[in-house]
Amino acid sequence: MSFIIAIDGPAGSGKSTISKILAKKNNLIFISSGQLYRICSWFYLKKQYENVDDKFINEINKLNITYENDSFLVNNKNIGNELISNEVSMHASNLAINEKIREFVNLKINEIFKNKDIIMDGRDIGTKVFPNANLKFFLTASLLERSRRRQKELKQKNNTKCSLLKIYLEIKKRDKQDKNREIAPLTKAKDAIVIKTTNKSIEDIEKIIQKIIDEKR
Ligand code: DC
Repeated sequence: MSFIIAIDGPAGSGKSTISKILAKKNNLIFISSGQLYRICSWFYLKKQYENVDDKFINEINKLNITYENDSFLVNNKNIGNELISNEVSMHASNLAINEKIREFVNLKINEIFKNKDIIMDGRDIGTKVFPNANLKFFLTASLLERSRRRQKELKQKNNTKCSLLKIYLEIKKRDKQDKNREIAPLTKAKDAIVIKTTNKSIEDIEKIIQKIIDEKR
């Protein structure tokens, strides 16, 4: 039986950072499901598609998507740095409204990670992707704090300077869209444990979650 931890929450709530650390400590594979939505967007923008039609779905199905060292590879290439721009972030949220895109992502998850011990972050992992996960967490933080974290991430990973206000407004828009879409909206699963991360250090959050994992495993 595989062991699955679902970590949901809005952008910048600390999901990926914490999940990566917990994955190493608990011998789990870390997966950020948002990366798959970002890959769809990256491809859509790169090839200048104008809508999500059958042709687009056919083409993304032809991509060879694999997983290595916490990252998805597309046709054997790590395109991680191209996935974190504000443009791709917002566009991924736009595409994620589409049922066919969600179907594509969930099929990929099933294809690549079936029967594996995993910790996966996203928006609908505890509610839709793995409703029977062994443990579910829902991370939150204030919008301002999440914007600050995202600004830092953009600087560190892409050397991009971006105004805090611009990021704040974009995340606000993305939150609204992710929470209000019809299919698989961002919402806390009934049995998820809420962790408020605003004034907590990474170490503190990790300790809280690790204790719960130890009790469960
Ligand atoms: O986690 P992230 O910021 O990389 O996700 C980018 C977008 O992808 C997010 O704004 C909405 C979408 N997404 C989703 O709809 N469901 C998921 N499980 C993960 C991400």
